[in-house]
Amino acid sequence: MLRFDEIYDGKTVLVTGHTGFKGAWLTIWLRELGADVVGFSLPEPVSEPNMFDVCGLGERCVDVRGDVRDRAAVAAVVAEHDPDVIFHMAAQPIVLTGIAEPVETFEVNAQGTVHVLEAVRQVAATGSSKRRVVVSITTDKVYEDQNWPWGYRETDRLGGKDPYSASKAMAELSIHAYRRTYFRPEDLADHGVALASVRAGNVIGGGDLAPHRLVPDCIKALQAGVPIEVRNPASVRPWQHVMVPLSGYLELGRRMLGAEAAGFCEAWNFGPADEAGITVGQVADKLIEIWGGGTVTAGEPDTGGFETFLLRLAFDKAASKMDWRPGLDWVEALTETAAWFGALGVGDDMYDVTVRHLGRLTA
Ligand SMILES: NC(=O)c1ccc[n+]([C@@H]2O[C@H](COP(=O)([O-])OP(=O)(O)OC[C@H]3O[C@@H](n4cnc5c(N)ncnc54)[C@H](O)[C@@H]3O)[C@@H](O)[C@H]2O)c1
Repeated sequence: MLRFDEIYDGKTVLVTGHTGFKGAWLTIWLRELGADVVGFSLPEPVSEPNMFDVCGLGERCVDVRGDVRDRAAVAAVVAEHDPDVIFHMAAQPIVLTGIAEPVETFEVNAQGTVHVLEAVRQVAATGSSKRRVVVSITTDKVYEDQNWPWGYRETDRLGGKDPYSASKAMAELSIHAYRRTYFRPEDLADHGVALASVRAGNVIGGGDLAPHRLVPDCIKALQAGVPIEVRNPASVRPWQHVMVPLSGYLELGRRMLGAEAAGFCEAWNFGPADEAGITVGQVADKLIEIWGGGTVTAGEPDTGGFETFLLRLAFDKAASKMDWRPGLDWVEALTETAAWFGALGVGDDMYDVTVRHLGRLTA
């Protein structure tokens, strides 16, 4: 397992959105690195079943329930635990839900982020100037769509033509404003707060138990012995394992806890290395190969609303300044995902299974 120089050992780490797909993986990883994890998420589960429960995480972290739209609740959890590191992931993360529920999406994603930043400002103002690291998770969709074939860089213009994307770009702007106004990297020795944002695209992996996700749906079909229904075989998507961006977030956190932290208080892209993009049809065929049998049937085409193009992120900056690499390619990502669901199907201990999977990511 990548261990990040043991820097998280004994640290208090707040993960907002810890009951979600990425949050559950991060909670397990941080626990295995020796951190005391405090989670803050909505009371209700993200799906039924869900990875948080399947892995028994309620017993394995300080499990706080609340809403990031509730400024007092966010302030209270930050003040009570005064975390060394915050990974802010809690969000309304679905583009189509954002189109149906724009007000809630802006409130949760934009205002919720401001509540986290403000809670840190308050605690930093009253306490010691100990190092406090905040890594705020946005998305690859924060960039203004330029419809160009190369990857977006961190310096490209922000935009967002749907409420989800715009709400995350607004979160980016608030992070920038807090960093320039209150948490200036050049004054880090005085205020102690190291603040960065991270941008990554869609992830796959074991534990993604929400309905209507391509890879889990394929695996369910394979487990049931029925054909995989593929609606858009030519559609191109990035296919990165959830461990890939999480390793970037953790590496960034490690750097921001260290002596050179000021140089890392900015925005960072993390992404897969598969520049060409892989089609949905290729993914279904590869899963059948990995599973050792199965068939595909054509389903009703579905454009998926606004998500019709392949958005690429350039991660050159993370590669050169942090020596970060994706660690798994798309075939390894699918193999890991199929193995995780296979283990779930035979009733294995999914916490232990997930820990073993974390051990397979290489630097
Ligand atoms: N999954 C992806 O492919 C992907 C891609 C790009 C960016 N992201 C970003 O990564 C983060 C995690 O995504 P995920 O896929 O794990 O999402 P998820 O839906 O699985 O989990 C979302 C988490 O946020 C919490 N949450 C939602 N609204 C909240 C609120 N109002 N107050 C408190 N908690 C709230 C939920 O309880 C849950 O714990 C999000 O910020 C998302 O935008 C995800």
